Amino acid sequence: MDAITVIRTKRDGGRLTDAQIDWVIDAYTRGEVADYQMSALAMAILLNGMDRVEIARWTAAMIASGERMDFSSLARPTADKHSTGGVGDKITLPLAPLVAACGGAVPQLSGRGLGHTGGTLDKLESIPGWRALLSNDEMLRVLGDVGAVICAAGDGLAPADKKLYALRDVTGTVEAIPLIASSIMSKKIAEGTGSLVLDVKVGSGAFMKNREDARELATTMVGLGTDHGVNTVALLTDMSTPLGLTAGNALEVRESVEVLAGGGPADVVELTVALAREMLDAAGLKDADPAKALADGSAMDHWRRMIAAQGGDPDAPLPIAREQHVLTAESTGVLTELDAYAVGVAAWRLGAGRARKEDPVQAGAGVEIHAKPGEEVTAGQPLLTLHTDTPERFEYALDSLAGALVIDAPGTAYERTPVVLERIG
Ligand code: URA
Repeated sequence: MDAITVIRTKRDGGRLTDAQIDWVIDAYTRGEVADYQMSALAMAILLNGMDRVEIARWTAAMIASGERMDFSSLARPTADKHSTGGVGDKITLPLAPLVAACGGAVPQLSGRGLGHTGGTLDKLESIPGWRALLSNDEMLRVLGDVGAVICAAGDGLAPADKKLYALRDVTGTVEAIPLIASSIMSKKIAEGTGSLVLDVKVGSGAFMKNREDARELATTMVGLGTDHGVNTVALLTDMSTPLGLTAGNALEVRESVEVLAGGGPADVVELTVALAREMLDAAGLKDADPAKALADGSAMDHWRRMIAAQGGDPDAPLPIAREQHVLTAESTGVLTELDAYAVGVAAWRLGAGRARKEDPVQAGAGVEIHAKPGEEVTAGQPLLTLHTDTPERFEYALDSLAGALVIDAPGTAYERTPVVLERIG
């Protein structure tokens, strides 16, 4: 077997055999296939695609490159959620303790933000003392004691994906549906969850800008999960405008705590409850009532225990950025557009996100939203507050917001896009 033949096969629009896939993933993980050869293969896959059988084998080979976790000793059924990433998507924070409060076990292995979408670990690290890095034993202990744990994935899980994802990030090959689906599902299957709910975002702030691509990605991932014995469903959800009223690490933790306290923005509450319902159904806990667990304080109780179990102080004040800049409405009318991608880029430029993996993030940086699409606004009214520790970033962040907010004449009819667009599974 040699890398050049494998690359040429895909370059010329052919199918890769099981043996070719097993070999190339294993040889790449061991360093025998070079980064430049895998880059060429990834680009050929992006241009020519893979069929269902190839994607399934590619995923299985990535799972086999590392360890698989085993939660069979837990008394509760496991359920996990994966979001393909969006702006203001803090849902994991209230969702994990909510599902735990309803009797599920949530082993949430999360990542850091890169580019305009935030990362769950960066958000939680704004809580003083909270630790993302746990050993497998610690993770199992927190999961057993509390019912939910959110931590960094260990190096042993799908190492082939870790290497390949970093390579795709710098070679313009992230946006290939077979590679995205196999990347996400190899980690989730290796993680060992019994059921999985996928939140596939659609819109300007998401990977998938249109519904057809999102549907194809969701269908591919549901098929992969099901074939590996994981009870998998997907929701396609709107990401044309940010979720909730905040984008940025500590700002999003604050909003999540509001949701756990029974308040918070309506779209965040709706999506949190919808995903919790799906996770509980998939885990066989059909009688649980997530709306009640939010209202009666039991989800908040699980949040506090989960944060404390990982060294965090749930009562500590959250960091606040040193400087603020308020953006006001230029006219009176109906806000008809608030573009998710532009807000995500603004939050990133304010310091909430990173350009390179090793960059630090500012805990307090981000964007606070005062009006959402469909609301009447008055000239001069605050629409956004930008937060940063480094005020020289304001101008750069404001550049990204040019044209992102549209105010139409007073009385303009506005049709709200539903939060949940479609269910697949
Ligand atoms: N998230 C992943 O884990 N992998 C991808 O390829 C894209 C998003």
